Amino acid sequence: MINVSEAQWSVGRWQEEIEIRLAGDDAEGPLVNIRANDSREFDAIFLGGGAAGRFGAAYLRAMGGRPLIVDRWPFLGGSCPHHACVPHHVFSDVAAQLMLERTFSGRLWFQNLRGRIVSIKEIVEMFREGRTGPHAFMNFQSKEQLDLEFVLGTEARILDAHSASVAGITFGAKNLVLATGARPKTLSIPGRDLAGVFDYASLVDTLDYEPGPTAVVIGGGKTAIEYGCFFNATGRRTLIVSRHKPLPMVNDGETRAFLLERMQEQGMEFLPGAALATLEGDQRGRVQAAVIRTLEGEIRVETDFLFLAQGLHPNSEEARATLGVAVDSDDFIRVDSRLRTSIPNVYAVGDVIGPPMEMFKARKGGMYAARNIMGEEAHYRLGDYPDFMHTHYEVCWLGLGEEDARERYRNVVVLKLPPENPDGHRVALPAGDRMMLYAMMKPELTGFQKLVVDGDSRRVVGAFHVGYGAKDGFQYLAPMVRNGLSVDELGEMDELFLNPSYFIQLCRLRAGSRILRGM
Ligand SMILES: Cc1cc2nc3c(=O)[nH]c(=O)nc-3n(C[C@H](O)[C@H](O)[C@H](O)COP(=O)(O)OP(=O)(O)OC[C@H]3O[C@@H](n4cnc5c(N)ncnc54)[C@H](O)[C@@H]3O)c2cc1C
Ligand SMILES: NC(=O)c1ccc[n+]([C@@H]2O[C@H](COP(=O)([O-])OP(=O)(O)OC[C@H]3O[C@@H](n4cnc5c(N)ncnc54)[C@H](OP(=O)(O)O)[C@@H]3O)[C@@H](O)[C@H]2O)c1
Repeated sequence: MINVSEAQWSVGRWQEEIEIRLAGDDAEGPLVNIRANDSREFDAIFLGGGAAGRFGAAYLRAMGGRPLIVDRWPFLGGSCPHHACVPHHVFSDVAAQLMLERTFSGRLWFQNLRGRIVSIKEIVEMFREGRTGPHAFMNFQSKEQLDLEFVLGTEARILDAHSASVAGITFGAKNLVLATGARPKTLSIPGRDLAGVFDYASLVDTLDYEPGPTAVVIGGGKTAIEYGCFFNATGRRTLIVSRHKPLPMVNDGETRAFLLERMQEQGMEFLPGAALATLEGDQRGRVQAAVIRTLEGEIRVETDFLFLAQGLHPNSEEARATLGVAVDSDDFIRVDSRLRTSIPNVYAVGDVIGPPMEMFKARKGGMYAARNIMGEEAHYRLGDYPDFMHTHYEVCWLGLGEEDARERYRNVVVLKLPPENPDGHRVALPAGDRMMLYAMMKPELTGFQKLVVDGDSRRVVGAFHVGYGAKDGFQYLAPMVRNGLSVDELGEMDELFLNPSYFIQLCRLRAGSRILRGM
């Protein structure tokens, strides 16, 4: 056990320590940061120091309480920087860059990438080498700036609703907060243990060879599409095998169709209504072919690289076995709007309580649990929220899609770019930052943008954007739409050059008309 409570480790010192431990050397035992001179009982033990646990503990501390975080990893911040969001953003950045380079191969200053495969292994290794920087910063920030107490590098075992055993020591608290996250679902078919079968976590932890020319992806959700687009952008044939049509979460038919068409143009292949039947291995024990059951019968695809994106399973087993917390049919822990489980004084937050599994929900859940623990009555009811994913583009959406809006409102007005053009000529809109080369040389690739409006009240009810530069806009647009943002108010805003994210120009062009018309 290393007591770090009196030490003032720099970010660099934390990074060294984390790297040693991730390399397998944890001989010195857990990293313990507990204030010896504080005799108060802990208000809560946070089991798990990911997005939910760390933000929850920080909020509780900010309110004057005393939290303790325990995490089995030697760092705080959890799966986002280690396995999930951060590598996904690295890969999606790479995919966007490669799409640019492939589209303009051999023109201007672009190298000729036609027919060339880019190394996935090198990109994964680049991420692996850089990932301890954010870990180190979060340990530094949590200790030196947020004043958090923690034990890192060891599992917590739940004893009861008020105590946990950590490295042989029993810690007591007024409350427990279960923030143990979730893990990728595994396969249940022959061949599942072959090398060459990855999920988002094992890809970044264990990939040690250069995948061949074909990638097979199982699943049709965000993880499947985001990683599939990355594999495709590296120049590999990429097959997306999904039980249903992919991307059900993009709730506007036209936007979804635009996305699927652009991905197909980039060479992605989709097999909806299909399932993996079996995997064949070679003599080294690595996958060499996937047999896929499709609507037309079985097909055999030669591949040494299979990526599973079948969703997540909650880390709820121990809480069920020890405390008997109530769970849903997928084992996610049930909570009420105050984040309370079925057991008094036990809260649950983040991925362990189920979808949507997004950072904002994990962090806000932690914060609301903290407020309740500190004596407030704080209800977190997940309402409409902005969402995003990456294909080769950045895709953002919020509110109602056109179809749902037409069911709810009698006079739906749609403002969109590019405009529908009878002669099929494609104008270079929407255009903005990072789309200008496409705008000049490949206008059909500049993206898609759509605002769905209730024409009677003139209120915006949905917004969709495919391209770049809109994500920041959407997180501000969402609460404004919830509060009744109108076309006229949007048209009053001040846009920055061509930035497509705020839909301001379209609204300004129409705001003057008494009877709102689409465009
Ligand atoms: C591929 C992928 C990409 C994603 N990209 C995005 C994105 O771009 N934007 C976004 O908003 N969301 C994204 N998400 C979702 C986001 O990563 C999660 O919602 C978020 O990280 C969940 O935080 P959490 O604290 O609930 O869980 P985690 O961060 O997983 O934290 C759980 C912690 O509990 C610890 N733990 C578990 N059991 C124990 C135990 N017994 N003792 C001690 N410690 C324990 C673990 O070590 C871990 O640190 C992505 C998810 C995936 C899978
Ligand atoms: N913000 C981001 O950019 C981001 C990125 C990645 C993930 N996330 C979040 O992380 C969570 C997990 O995302 P995810 O895409 O991994 O999972 P997901 O949204 O649960 O999607 C899982 C996919 O796998 C399929 N599937 C499930 N079980 C299967 C099986 N046994 N055989 C074949 N296919 C199966 C599902 O098909 P069916 O439709 O048929 O069930 C679905 O297409 C989500 O809440 C997501 O929002 C966020």
